[in-house]
Amino acid sequence: ADLDAFITGLPKAELHLHIEGSLEPEQMFAFAKRNGVVIPFDSVEDIRAAYSFSRLQDFLDIYYQGAAVLQTEQDFRDLAYAYFTRAHADAVRHAEIFFDPQTHTDRGIAFETVARGLFAGMDDAQRDFGITSRLILCFLRHLDEEAAFATLAQAKPWLDRIAGVGLDSGEIGNPPSKFARVFAAAADQGLRRVAHAGEEGPPAYVTEALDLLGIDRLDHGNRALEDPALVDRLARAGMTLTVCPLSNLKLCVVNDMAAHPIPRMLALGLKATINSDDPAYFGGYVNDNYRALAASTSLGRADFATLARNSFTGSFLPPEEIARHL
Ligand code: HPA
Ligand code: ZN
Repeated sequence: ADLDAFITGLPKAELHLHIEGSLEPEQMFAFAKRNGVVIPFDSVEDIRAAYSFSRLQDFLDIYYQGAAVLQTEQDFRDLAYAYFTRAHADAVRHAEIFFDPQTHTDRGIAFETVARGLFAGMDDAQRDFGITSRLILCFLRHLDEEAAFATLAQAKPWLDRIAGVGLDSGEIGNPPSKFARVFAAAADQGLRRVAHAGEEGPPAYVTEALDLLGIDRLDHGNRALEDPALVDRLARAGMTLTVCPLSNLKLCVVNDMAAHPIPRMLALGLKATINSDDPAYFGGYVNDNYRALAASTSLGRADFATLARNSFTGSFLPPEEIARHL
């Protein structure tokens, strides 16, 4: 109970959160209704019952389907604001938020609608809660390089509020090498780079993300632990890993929270952080992820303080703002 209270009030940043993955079933119904979109569920309970996954692709199928209710700038604003309301309750001070523009542009929603809506939610959250935030534009890796280049071009007018680019969706069979050129173009435009790697994919995909994408941060990275030389490299580079415990459990990346690799990552000198990934689908927001580890591992106050500290030092905030949070 003491540790719970410590976690609740611990100031933190969230670095691995897909805004489309914060769409709660109640909100899915509300947006479907106000937009006249038909969804294949009769009730909120019906939706929650569908959230049983045995691998990443099971989740992705239902996550892309759910996003279809997002139609207007207001929807994206309300989605972001609802996330920030939850994040504020969890003592989140700063968030670097993934969005998947191709999920929306491919069904006829303008990039501008998505961007304006999310920025409105971010502005309202800064005003009401003092939470700062930036966006990270993720390319869907199951789509091709040309589509990623087209998405990067669409982002041009908004680059002042986009911290960087990322890579998500189905990992196996879509290695980082597929996007080496588009990441190089993003770097030329002054964008930071992150990528999901080593969630389901092999350690070699993490190595590719380092060598071919020039990543500044590694999303997930669990399977890097299979390669001691790679662990050593990540530790020496001071690479931040954005790890997502409840996601790992729900997608069967780990079989048991008691066997979660975060304690091992810390012991190996890796800069791990705790994040919620897709909280509406995986059973909890960032503090639920901290608490799940507190309940099932021997991590204590000092460890959680280190993990929260890592979330600020691993953020893309300027050094003086990071210092203000420590
Ligand atoms: N992995 C890959 N793609 C995703 C994820 C994830 O955990 N969440 C949303 N898109
Ligand atoms: Zn993710």
